Order: sequence, then structure tokens, then C-alpha cells
Amino acid sequence: MNIVKSVLFSPEVIAQRVKELGAEITSDYKDKEVLFLGILKGAFLFMSDLCRYVDVKMEFDFMEVSSYSGGTYSTGQVRILKDIDTNIEDKNILIVEDIVDNGLTLDYLVNYIKVRQPRSLKICALLDKRAHRKVLLKIDYIGFDCPDEFVLGYGLDYGEFYRNLPFIGVLNEEFISYPKNVL
Ligand code: IMP
Repeated sequence: MNIVKSVLFSPEVIAQRVKELGAEITSDYKDKEVLFLGILKGAFLFMSDLCRYVDVKMEFDFMEVSSYSGGTYSTGQVRILKDIDTNIEDKNILIVEDIVDNGLTLDYLVNYIKVRQPRSLKICALLDKRAHRKVLLKIDYIGFDCPDEFVLGYGLDYGEFYRNLPFIGVLNEEFISYPKNVL
């Protein structure tokens, strides 16, 4: 039995889309500086690939948040595990996120960042899973629409594993009830 039921986005398809997003961001931030704010851990692969296709002056920072109960849905009770190191006042911030599901994590982050008075704030998410969206969010750059499935790979985990898969796949739900140590 395989942990992945089906491959949703192959490495080639992901690479092509990341390149396109990079070109779009480059043109939008032409002659500006931008701070890429990566949301750990899920966005680490996406952000590192994306930034290589963005040809503007940029700096980086990271936040790590936890909003999962350990299962396959987020609770909306966001805990900050790692805060921003930089003073972001008057900077152009681009949040780089792996996936937006019910949207509560990003909603929390947007409010958290807005009070720090950035010059501009935009969002780039690799995957947009809209089926259970609970808040209205404007996502400025979207890699792919994501079906109502739990997905893993290319930075996304299931129980902290499988982030290193080079593709994005759908979790085989037969594994959901298994204890972590047999996966
Ligand atoms: P939200 O608060 O429901 O939008 O959840 C956002 C966070 O939940 C993401 O940053 C991911 O870490 C995680 N997440 C949501 N859906 C998935 C999924 O299908 N696979 C892996 N992680 C997910």
C-alpha cells in the first residue's frame, strides 16, 4: 500500500508553474524591494524554488506557525513558533505559503502583519484549497487550485513526514487512522 493515492502535480508541472509565478512577481515588483516572508515549514521548498525566478532586490524572513491538531485539519488556533526577525514597517511584504485551506492561519497572519504597518502586503500560495474556506481572503498569486483532498509532498507533510517528495500527491486515506510510527 502506498501513502500516495495519486499524483496531482508532477515535478515538471510544478517547476513550470513556479517559473510563471516568478515572472509575474518580477514584473509586479519591478523597481521595488520585496521581503519574502516564508511560512514554515510547508513553504520551504516552494519559496526556495520561487525566489530563483524573481529578479528583484529581495530579502527573506520566516515565521513558523502551528495550527493543526496533529490530524488533517487546522483548528484556527494559531501558535507562533518562530516570529519575524525583521522590522517590517514600510516594507513590501510577500507572504509565501504552501496551501490555504479554511484560511484561518493566513487570516491570523495577515492581521498580525498588518499591525506592523508594512508598505504593502500580498500573498502567494502554491495551493488554493477552497472547499472549506471560512474567511474571505485575497490571494494575489496562486500556483494551483487544489481539490478537496489532503495532499502531501513538495514541502507539505502528513504527520511531519513526506515533505521531500518531489511531486504533490493525494494522501491515501487508508493511512489516516494508522499510528505515525508505521507510516
Ligand atoms: P488553514 O488554516 O486551514 O488554511 O490551514 C493552512 C495550513 O494547514 C497550511 O499552511 C498547511 O500547513 C496545512 N494544510 C492544509 N491543508 C493541507 C493539506 O492538504 N496537506 C498538508 N497540509 C495542509
